[in-house]
Amino acid sequence: MNDQLPAAGRVVSGMRPSGALHLGHYHGVLKNWLQLQQQTECLFFAADWHALTTHYENPGQIAQLTFEMVIDWLAVGIDPNQATIFVQSQVPEHAELHLLLSMITPLSWLERVPTYKDQQEKLKERDLATYGFLGYPVLQSADILIYHGTRVPVGEDQVAHVELTREIARRFNHLFGRETNLEQRIEEALQRLDPKTVRRYRELRQRYQEQGDGEALTAARGLVEAQSVLAPDERHRLLGYLEGGARQILVEPQALLTSAPRLPGMDGQKMSKSYGNTIALREPLDQVAQKLRTMPTDPARVRRIDPGEPARCPVWGLHQVYSDETMQNWVQTGCRTAGIGCLDCKKPLIEAITAELAPIQARAREFTEDRARVNTILAEGAERAREQAGATITEVRQAMGLRAS
Ligand code: TRP
Ligand code: SF4
Repeated sequence: MNDQLPAAGRVVSGMRPSGALHLGHYHGVLKNWLQLQQQTECLFFAADWHALTTHYENPGQIAQLTFEMVIDWLAVGIDPNQATIFVQSQVPEHAELHLLLSMITPLSWLERVPTYKDQQEKLKERDLATYGFLGYPVLQSADILIYHGTRVPVGEDQVAHVELTREIARRFNHLFGRETNLEQRIEEALQRLDPKTVRRYRELRQRYQEQGDGEALTAARGLVEAQSVLAPDERHRLLGYLEGGARQILVEPQALLTSAPRLPGMDGQKMSKSYGNTIALREPLDQVAQKLRTMPTDPARVRRIDPGEPARCPVWGLHQVYSDETMQNWVQTGCRTAGIGCLDCKKPLIEAITAELAPIQARAREFTEDRARVNTILAEGAERAREQAGATITEVRQAMGLRAS
C-alpha cells in the first residue's frame, strides 16, 4: 500500500486530535503507520498544540480527544514497543525549537503556504488571523526537525508543510552550520574511524562532488550513519561535509505519500468527519451494519429488476477496498445483469467491515477500562522523545550562539 517503502530512516508523524477516528483514518493513515513501525524507527504523536491553533476559543475537549485518539491508535495495533507514542505538549522542546526557528523563517514563506489561505477560507467562522495559526507549519517543522526525522508520512495536503520544513532546515544549516576550522574538525572526526571506512568516505564524497553521483551520496550517508563511535555533532559534520561546507545540524526530511485507495463515505464522497459520512472505529457494530444497509446505491437502480452500474455506486468503492477479485467480478456482473440485489451486494461488505472492527473494538475496550496503562504508555513515550529532542535542542542552542545548558 506504500509506494516508496523506506529501507531505513526515522519516521515522524503527528495527528491532530479532532474526534473519533474512522475507517478513512484506518485505511488512509493508520495501516501505513502499522507497516512503518515494523520496518523502521517511528515516532507518532498527538498534535494537541496544533489543535489549539484553530480551536483556541473552546479548548475544553482537547485533552479528552487526545486521549481517545491514542486509544484508537493502540486499538488498531500501534505498538508502544515498536514506536514511540506521545503527546506533543508533553515534549516542550518542540516549543523551544519552534521559537528558535521562527527567528529565521521569512514571513513570505509562511504566507505562501497553500493551507494558510485555504483553511482561513474554509473555517470562516473562526478568527484565524493569529500569530499561532500563521506559525502552524513552523511548529510542524519543529516537530519533525527535533527528531532528525527523515520520512514524514502525510496526506497530499501536508506536502507543502514538509517542503517548508526542508527549506527551514536548509536555511538553518546555511546560517548556523558554518565553522571556521571545519577541515580540521572533519579530520578529527575521521581519525576516530577505521582507515578503510575513511578511504571509502573520501572516495564517495569525491564521486558525489565531482560527478554529482547521487548513489555515492546515499552510500556515503549510510556509511556515516552506521558509525556508532561518532558523537552526534561529528556525524552531522561528516554528513554536511559530503555536500559542501556547512555542517548539517538539522536533517531535511522527505514526505512519504501513501497510495492507499481513497475510502468512500456513506454518501460516496471521501470519508470525512466534516461530511458526516463516516463509520467510526468504535461505532456499535449493529449501527455499522445499519448504516451500510441504508447506504445509497446507483440511483438508476430503483427496482430490484433494474440493472445497475457499479461505477455510479458508492458501495462499489467499498468493494474495491475490501473484496478480492472473485467477489469484485461477482458484484460487477451481478449488478449489471440485475442478477443480485443491492442487499446481496452489501452483505459481504457488512461481514468484512464488522469482522475488521470487532477485534479493534475489543482492544479499545481493554484500554478504556485501563486508563492508567494508556497514561503510562504516553509518559514513557514522552520521556523517550524528550531524550532525543533534548540532544537536538542542545546542538541548536550552541549553533545559534546561546549558552548551552
Ligand atoms: N499538520 C498535520 C495534519 O494536520 C499534523 C502534524 C503536526 C504533523 N505535526 C506534524 C504531521 C509533524 C507530520 C509531522 O495532519
Ligand atoms: Fe451498488 Fe452493488 Fe447495488 Fe450495484 S448491486 S447498485 S454495486 S449496491
